[in-house]
Amino acid sequence: MLHILDISPPAQGLGHPLLLMNHSVTLRDVEPRDLPTLFEHQYDRIANEMAAFPARERDAFMAHWTTNILGNTQVIKKAILFNDHLAGNIGCFERDGMHLVGYWIGREFWGKGVATKALTEFVTQVKFRPLHAYVAKHNVGSVRVLEKCGFTVCGEDKSGSPTGGEEVEEYLMSLNVQT
Ligand SMILES: CC(C)(COP(=O)(O)OP(=O)(O)OC[C@H]1O[C@@H](n2cnc3c(N)ncnc32)[C@H](O)[C@@H]1OP(=O)(O)O)[C@@H](O)C(=O)NCCC(=O)NCCS
Repeated sequence: MLHILDISPPAQGLGHPLLLMNHSVTLRDVEPRDLPTLFEHQYDRIANEMAAFPARERDAFMAHWTTNILGNTQVIKKAILFNDHLAGNIGCFERDGMHLVGYWIGREFWGKGVATKALTEFVTQVKFRPLHAYVAKHNVGSVRVLEKCGFTVCGEDKSGSPTGGEEVEEYLMSLNVQT
């Protein structure tokens, strides 16, 4: 059973209002030196439940990213920078004939518009259409991010729970127009 927990952004650190006044969100290619931070981002039980996607242990994460992502020129993989801090990643890969988008923001950066700004920029850089995204129905934040960037629901699916629990109900969402 998946639970939605309290995922309010932390009221400290980078969330301080003065630090948000001139913030910027930019994308660059992921580099091997980013992997330890990206590992920490996905090693987060609350984020895992939200995305219905389990954390990888460090060795498995490093091997997956090094071989399947950084080592695959067909995969687009961008680091998301929030005022030059590595805040997450966003990417696109082909599966079942679809160009699928995925993204992950480190929890300390949630609630600052980072995902929306990153996806907005990403869809101007990546010209494949349609672009698709699978999103767990309970992941209301991610559904909202996709909607704000022009994606609409085009299907529904159920996937086996990666943690062995109940099946996860998902939307398939698509962006059909150039932005
Ligand atoms: C979901 C996620 C990408 C949101 O990132 P974020 O940078 O906090 O999102 P934004 O700040 O751009 O928020 C965009 C909108 O979603 C809403 N939102 C974000 N998180 C929310 C949440 N947990 N519950 C409800 N609404 C939420 C915001 O209020 C905002 O809506 P508004 O503009 O109408 O006020 C981030 O929490 C995350 O990476 N989670 C773990 C991994 C994941 O779920 N990846 C996506 C898999 S499909």
